[in-house]
Amino acid sequence: MCEKCKEKFYITTPIYYPSAKLHIGHTYCTVATDAMARYKRLQGYDVMFLTGTDEHGQKIEDKAKDAGVTPQQFVDNIVEGPGGVLDLWKLMNISYDRFIRTTDDYHVAAIQKIFKKMYDNGDIYKGTYKGKYCKPCESFWTESQLVDGKCPDCGREVQDAEEEAYFFRLSKYAGRVQDLLENTDFLEPRSRVNEMVNNFIKPGLEDLCVSRTSFTWGVPVDFDPGHVVYVWIDALFNYMTALGFQNDKYQDLDKFWPADVHFVGKEIVRFHSIIWPAMLMSLNLPLPKKVYGHGWLLLDGGKMSKSKGNVVDPYILAERFGVDALRFFLLRSFPFGSDGNFSNELLINTINVDLANDLGNLVSRTVAMAQKYFGEHLPAQQAADEEKDAELVTMASSLRGKYEAEMEKYAFQNALAEVFKVISRANKYIDENAPWVLAKSEENKPRLARVLYNLLETVRICGGLLTPFMPDTAGEIARRLGGARMDWDSLGTFGVLDPQVAVVAGPALFPRIDVEKELAALEEMSKPPVPELEIEPYSDEKVDFDTFCKSDFRAVKVKDCKPVKKSDKLLCFTLDDGTGTDRQILSGIAKYYKPEELIGKTLVAITNLPPRKMMGRDSNGMLLSAVHTEKGEEKLNLIMISDTIPAGAKLC
Ligand code: MSP
Repeated sequence: MCEKCKEKFYITTPIYYPSAKLHIGHTYCTVATDAMARYKRLQGYDVMFLTGTDEHGQKIEDKAKDAGVTPQQFVDNIVEGPGGVLDLWKLMNISYDRFIRTTDDYHVAAIQKIFKKMYDNGDIYKGTYKGKYCKPCESFWTESQLVDGKCPDCGREVQDAEEEAYFFRLSKYAGRVQDLLENTDFLEPRSRVNEMVNNFIKPGLEDLCVSRTSFTWGVPVDFDPGHVVYVWIDALFNYMTALGFQNDKYQDLDKFWPADVHFVGKEIVRFHSIIWPAMLMSLNLPLPKKVYGHGWLLLDGGKMSKSKGNVVDPYILAERFGVDALRFFLLRSFPFGSDGNFSNELLINTINVDLANDLGNLVSRTVAMAQKYFGEHLPAQQAADEEKDAELVTMASSLRGKYEAEMEKYAFQNALAEVFKVISRANKYIDENAPWVLAKSEENKPRLARVLYNLLETVRICGGLLTPFMPDTAGEIARRLGGARMDWDSLGTFGVLDPQVAVVAGPALFPRIDVEKELAALEEMSKPPVPELEIEPYSDEKVDFDTFCKSDFRAVKVKDCKPVKKSDKLLCFTLDDGTGTDRQILSGIAKYYKPEELIGKTLVAITNLPPRKMMGRDSNGMLLSAVHTEKGEEKLNLIMISDTIPAGAKLC
C-alpha cells in the first residue's frame, strides 16, 4: 500500500475494570489486539489501536471503601501504580496508540452530553426500576433472564432492586439489531449470533435501565442530580469519545470512526452486539464494522482469577519465559474464537517445540553454517537446483498469502501454523541437502552457498511474518541476517535478501526449558505464601480471677538437665524450687535445647499441677515457655527470668 493511499484501521480492546490486578486472561485479548494492530501497520495501514480502563461503578466504590481510600485513589493505583495496567502493557510490548480512562474529564463531559441527547430524542425516559441486579457484573437482569435464579453471566446471587431510574428504549431497536446480527457479518464468530438472538432478542428485548441512584461513583446525570449513568453506557462510548466524539480533546473521529473491529471476550458480546449498536442507532451514528467475541482462557477447566496464584500472573510468566514467548504462546496455542485450557505444561512445551527446536534451531544452524563455511558473507557464485529447491522456495514464496488469509479472519493460530509449516520444511531441507557434506569439497561451494541462501531467505520471510507476534525476536532475526528487510512487500517475494548477505551469529533465541524442573519451580511458587510470623489465636473463654490465682507460679533454678533415654522429645530437669527438696519436671523440649545450656538458668514453673508419669518417671509441674510459628516452623522459647530472682519466689 502506498503512503498516499494509506487506509485507516481502527481496532479496540475492551477497557479493563481496575478492580484488581490483571491476570493472563486479560493479557490474552490485549496481546491479540496488539498482534492485529502490528499486522495492519506492517501492511501499511494507518492504525489506531485503543485500549484503556473502565473505572466507574459500585464494585470500584465498594473496593475503595474496603481499602480505606477514595475511588479515584483506588483506580489510580491499579492503573498507574507499580505493577498496574500501564506497567503491564509496557512489559508486554503493547503498541497502543491511545489509552482512555473513563474518569478522564473529557470523557465524563462527553458522556453527559450523549446521555442528554438520547433523553432529548426520547430514547431515554424516566421510570421505576424493578428487577434483579448482579453486583459483581454490574448487570441488571429481568426475572426471565436469570438461570436458576442466579446471574446468567457469573452464576452468583442477584439482589432485588427497585428505584427511580432512567431507561433506554432498547426494545425499539430489537428488529434492527436482530437484522444486523442475522443478515450481516457484524458479529463473529458466527456461533455467537445464535446465542445472542436466541437467548436475548427472541425472548423479548426489554428496555434497559441506564441510571442508578444507590451509589455515586459514576458519571452524574447533569440534569437530574442523584443519578449516575449506568456503567456500560459510560464504558461503551469510550470507543468514540477517545476519538473526539462530543469533546475537543481529540479530532480523529472522521478519520477513524466507524471502528474496523472491537475485540471483546465472549461474556461481554451481549453489550457490544445488542446494546452498543442500538445506542448508535438511536443517535444515528455509523455502526462499527465488526465485533469479534473471543473465547476465554480457562484454568483447570474453570474461570481464571488472580486469586488462583502465580500461575496466572503475567509478570511472573513473562519474567520466567520472556515476553515474546508468552505472547506467541497465547496466540499459537488456542483458537481465538473458542475457549482454551491454559496450563504451564502447554506453555513450556510450546516454547520448547516451536521456539527452541523449530524456529530457534533453524536460525542458529543456518546462521552458524553460513559463518563457518563462508566467513564474512555468502559468495556471489551460487548454484540453484530446481528439483531440490522447488518445494521450499514455493512454500516460502506463497506463505504471505496464506498467512494473510488467516489473519484477515483473526485466525492467529492458523496464521502461525502456516509459518511453522515452512519452518519445519526448512529444517527438513537442511537434512536433505546436508550442507556439512557439501562443505567438504571446493567444487560444491556454489551449491552450498545457494542452500544457505535459500535457508536465510526463508528465515527472513518467516521472521518478518512473526513480527506482529514477537516483535523483539523478529528484530533480532533481521539483525542476524545482516539487517534484512522485513517490510510487507518484501515478505511476499522470495529472493529479496542480498545474495552476498553477511550474517551475525548469536546465542540461542529460545533456550530449551527443562520441563520437569520448571514445572516443579512453578508449583513451588504457586503454593500459598507461608506467613512470616504466626501466633496462637487468643482464647475467648474467660477464666475467673480466683481460679487463675490458684495457679502457683514459681521461679525455679536448673540444677541438672538430662535427656530421657528412648525419648527424642523429653528432657528431665532437676530443679531448686526454694523448698530445700529437689523438684523433678519433665518437659518435651529436647528439639529446642541442648540440656547443658540450661543448667544454672532461672525458669518459671507452675508447681501445683497433679503429678504425671512420663516414660516411667514422675513429673511435678510444668515449665512455661513461649510458642509461635515462623515461616511455617514452630519455635519455642523457655521463659527465662533474671538470675537475681531467688528460687521459690512466687510469680503473680
Ligand atoms: N470493563 C468491561 C469492558 C468494557 S468495554 C466497553 C470488562 N472489563 S474486564 O476487565 O472485566 O474484562 C476485560 C476483558 O478481559 C473482557 O473482554 C474479558 O472477556 C477478558 N477476560 C477476562 N478474563 C479472561 C480470560 N480468562 N480469558 C480471556 N479473556 C478474559 O469486561
